Amino acid sequence: MSLCVEMGDKLLFFFFLSPLLLIFSSKALHCSAAADTISAGQSLTANQTIVSKGGDFELGFFTPGKSLKHYLGIWYTKTYGQSRTVIWVANRDQPIIDLFSSELKLLENGNLVILNESKVSIWSTNTTSTASDSLELILGDDGNLVLRDRLNPSVIIWQSFDHLTDTWIPGAKLKYDKRTKRALKLISWKNSEDPSPGLFSLELTSDSAFVIMWNGSRQYWTSGIWDGQGFSLVPEMKSRTTFNYSFISNENESYITYHFYDKTRRSRIKVDLSGQIKHFLWLEVTKEWNQVWSKPIKPCDVYGYCGPFGRCNNVEDSSCQCLQGFKEQSLEDWNLDDPSGGCVRKTPLQCQAKDNFIQMLNMKSPVNSMPFAVDSSANCKSACLNNCSCNAYVYNSTGCSLWYGDLLNIQQLDNGGDELFVRVAPSEVSSSKKESIHRPVTVCAIAGTLALLGLVLVAIWIWGRRGSVEMSIAVEGSLVAFTYKDLKIASKNFSEILGSGAFGSVFKGVLPDSTLIAMKKLEGITQGEKQFRAEVSTIGTIHHVNLVRLRGFCSEGNKRLLVYDYMENRSLNSHLFRKDDSKAALDWKTRYNIALGTARGLAYLHEECRYCIIHCDIKPENILLDADFVPKVADFGLAKLLGREFSRVLTTMRGTRGYLAPEWISGVAVTAKADVYSYGMMLFEIISGRRNSQLEDGKIEYFPTWAATKVASGENVLSILDKQLEGNADAEELTRTFRAACWCIQDDEAHRPTMGQVVQILEGFLEARPPPIPRSLQLIMEGEETYISS
Ligand SMILES: *[C@@H]1O[C@H](CO)[C@@H](O)[C@H](O)[C@H]1NC(C)=O
Ligand SMILES: *[C@@H]1O[C@H](CO)[C@@H](O)[C@H](O)[C@H]1NC(C)=O
Ligand SMILES: *[C@@H]1O[C@H](CO)[C@@H](O)[C@H](O)[C@H]1NC(C)=O
Ligand SMILES: *[C@@H]1O[C@H](CO)[C@@H](O)[C@H](O)[C@H]1NC(C)=O
Ligand SMILES: *[C@@H]1O[C@H](CO)[C@@H](O)[C@H](O)[C@H]1NC(C)=O
Ligand SMILES: *[C@@H]1O[C@H](CO)[C@@H](O)[C@H](O)[C@H]1NC(C)=O
Ligand SMILES: *[C@@H]1O[C@H](CO)[C@@H](O)[C@H](O)[C@H]1NC(C)=O
Ligand SMILES: *[C@@H]1O[C@H](CO)[C@@H](O)[C@H](O)[C@H]1NC(C)=O
Repeated sequence: MSLCVEMGDKLLFFFFLSPLLLIFSSKALHCSAAADTISAGQSLTANQTIVSKGGDFELGFFTPGKSLKHYLGIWYTKTYGQSRTVIWVANRDQPIIDLFSSELKLLENGNLVILNESKVSIWSTNTTSTASDSLELILGDDGNLVLRDRLNPSVIIWQSFDHLTDTWIPGAKLKYDKRTKRALKLISWKNSEDPSPGLFSLELTSDSAFVIMWNGSRQYWTSGIWDGQGFSLVPEMKSRTTFNYSFISNENESYITYHFYDKTRRSRIKVDLSGQIKHFLWLEVTKEWNQVWSKPIKPCDVYGYCGPFGRCNNVEDSSCQCLQGFKEQSLEDWNLDDPSGGCVRKTPLQCQAKDNFIQMLNMKSPVNSMPFAVDSSANCKSACLNNCSCNAYVYNSTGCSLWYGDLLNIQQLDNGGDELFVRVAPSEVSSSKKESIHRPVTVCAIAGTLALLGLVLVAIWIWGRRGSVEMSIAVEGSLVAFTYKDLKIASKNFSEILGSGAFGSVFKGVLPDSTLIAMKKLEGITQGEKQFRAEVSTIGTIHHVNLVRLRGFCSEGNKRLLVYDYMENRSLNSHLFRKDDSKAALDWKTRYNIALGTARGLAYLHEECRYCIIHCDIKPENILLDADFVPKVADFGLAKLLGREFSRVLTTMRGTRGYLAPEWISGVAVTAKADVYSYGMMLFEIISGRRNSQLEDGKIEYFPTWAATKVASGENVLSILDKQLEGNADAEELTRTFRAACWCIQDDEAHRPTMGQVVQILEGFLEARPPPIPRSLQLIMEGEETYISS
């Protein structure tokens, strides 16, 4: 009998001795938790669950999203997030329709079954046992559901770990059976509301590598083979001080499993709907699941991710779109995060020479092309037209390539790539861009466009003449193209200055709809108008919660402005190095979150977004804080926008040099690791609340060297913390932050972590070894005065 007492939002379970008398009293049901076992003859009905002894896992019936279908599964209990994190599903493709008349039953003969409303078995383990009196189904603390004889517990009759669905948790084995030559497969859900097997699967191969497959046949990613320590292409999957991966191979099977030494760490590796595998770690600090890594890094690199005739947008956010002339095959599936069904033609082909082509620039062409030996674009086109199953062609210096059947894996690139011509019915072309061979049409189109443009200009001119305060806003992509006049009005003739730097000053402004904005008036732009617009629209496509959002720009003659969201709490330096005491010092938690958020923003810039932007000017002045002190990296993309001028100013500017990596000064090519260095310098300042270099008693003192030496000599890490915090900091977080900082400012860029690794170190997922004392600081100490920040 079990009793359950509710206290606040915590459940306390008291287990009494006689599990045989297990009864689901209505009281126990009310708290939706009973015991961790079911005995022969007993069943579990709709509202009942069993919970593992430690309280981490729960078994019961669940209903994904708005679905009308129900499933039996195991999930992390509500200690782990508000929404249910399902890790295992029994009847993934035999859903239950009427939940309240269905049950899970452990039969006396040892078979575990789910009975539907007509008491017909819709799922079963197909097991038998003669030990009906001592038979039990137990949900273990590792999340494994085990059917066994209580008197002989080492003999397992059936276990859920042998039938994983899409999630691999610590302790479970991913196996390859050498005798049957079959692997246990983790298969993605069909969509976010349907756990039935989707298109993507992860499995171990006979030569000890992990592979991800599309539709069970097409491999699009591999881990590389096990080298004794880890997998060659997934450095994330190596044993570390907090967890280990073990690979076991004997004559019958090979398998891989992983364990955390700290049994309370919760982790899961999942084959996601996107076709990526993702490792999540539960972070007690933030009370959320955090994605630690994913492979492939971008969904666009997943085979068939956008389905036939879908296009993956590799420029922005890896979203899928249908090609022009096509529509979603099932909009419902697309809305449930499953675009893999792809797109279908809006209008059927006529299958005659009358069909036409839509030209698409900067495309990564579909897979499976067929070369065709012709010597002109026109012949390539007619070769395609002549075969009804030909759907696209490319003609370039390599020659003519044709595609038959479905077009898969098309990606939109920002530059380069192919000029792809996709076949559509004649009626689809009139509404879209025509290919350039049709000269008369093109000329007409241009003339038409010009006429239209003229009309728009006249309209704007008339509007402007009417002296309206409303803005004449032109939109370019997601960006607003402001006129100089608009911005002048919005900023009350540039009256309120927020700050100024080497590249121009920043002013506050208010849009007519009372949105606050910040506008940066750029100086020293030598770029032409066209290139400026191109660069700006690139920056405009980059969105991340830890990056300041570019709203728009202005480009009129030599007047160039960038318009950003306004950030209430200004920049980090104004909080760290306070000149007056009107503001309270930032507490540790806030500092830690700023460090982490900034690292995430930079990791995104470096590794995840399409352009791989090196910021080049990370310093507290460029970290802005919104109303909730969420950090936003500002000024990214300026390096490219300003070109050579940027690095000239940067390397000579006072107040910036203290953050510059040695390679800036030595003239070696600058990589993303230069940002890591500057970020590390800034971390020290976040810890200490003071500039790294300060003049004391006529001597320059460098905080990083001082701090690293102090900690290396065995002093408590709290001794290097900003005095104003009076030691109020989480020592573990501080240690991680300090170690990350030291590793970031290593002389040799190969020794510095990537920003992605920094995030993992800060989160405590990657353990950083005690760092060596950074060497070049010694050199900087002998440096000139220009290194000292003003
Ligand atoms: C199950 O729980 C729901 C919601 O708490 C309740 O409405 C329903 O009556 C319960 N059904 C049974 C059979 O206990
Ligand atoms: C129960 O399942 C069986 C087998 O799948 C099916 O034939 C029957 O229609 C189901 N009963 C109901 C009421 O859905
Ligand atoms: C049990 O047997 C049925 C029929 O042979 C089969 O379809 C089903 O997959 C089996 N169940 C399990 C869990 O292996
Ligand atoms: C997956 O493969 C099966 C045959 O193995 C085929 O019938 C099915 O159409 C394929 N699915 C897709 C989406 O191509
Ligand atoms: C990994 O850790 C687990 C749990 O601590 C331990 O049982 C196992 O032997 C370790 N494996 C290796 C290869 O070190
Ligand atoms: C492999 O399987 C055979 C037959 O089932 C068994 O006797 C042997 O012990 C197994 N070997 C290992 C290493 O488990
Ligand atoms: C069209 O091309 C496909 C693939 O090359 C070929 O199998 C088919 O026979 C061709 N059809 C015609 C009508 O030429
Ligand atoms: C020409 O197009 C084909 C087909 O997409 C592509 O593989 C090849 O790289 C292209 N060649 C050049 C020089 O761009």
